[in-house]
Amino acid sequence: MRKADLYGDLAAQLKSLIEGEPDRVANAANMAALIYNSLPDLNWAGFYFAQGQELVLGPFQGQPACVRIPWGNGVCGTAAARATAVLVPDVYEFPGHIACDPVSQSELVVPLIENGKVTGVLDLDSPKAARFDEDDRAGCEALVAVFLGK
Ligand code: SME
Repeated sequence: MRKADLYGDLAAQLKSLIEGEPDRVANAANMAALIYNSLPDLNWAGFYFAQGQELVLGPFQGQPACVRIPWGNGVCGTAAARATAVLVPDVYEFPGHIACDPVSQSELVVPLIENGKVTGVLDLDSPKAARFDEDDRAGCEALVAVFLGK
């Protein structure tokens, strides 16, 4: 299946999973499970939510992860501070990468932006180097838009 079609299917599934449900944690939990079980070659998929000057761990699938990430730190904090997606083909080449799981080789982080403010991030990790490309970035941005009701 083409990546664009896969993400199109996922967006439709996500819509039906969260439709009419206002609870953010419940929706984030289902979205993390949907992504983790649908996209190949992931070892972690989940959320961090903004709290003051930190990102705090939210619903996820995968190994236990670091709970608090200072704004601007790691791949997650960088995506939050820049308010833009960050695609890292080799995490060992990214200065300040936070290694929650040494298995992770590549990473994609998409910010949640609401009313111009970053309220959290969606983080995907892979045990494969260069697992994510521009199609994944666009696909995950579309999933985040569904999650935010956009
Ligand atoms: N690697 C991330 C930290 C979160 S874990 O990957 C789940 C980072 O550098 O921000």
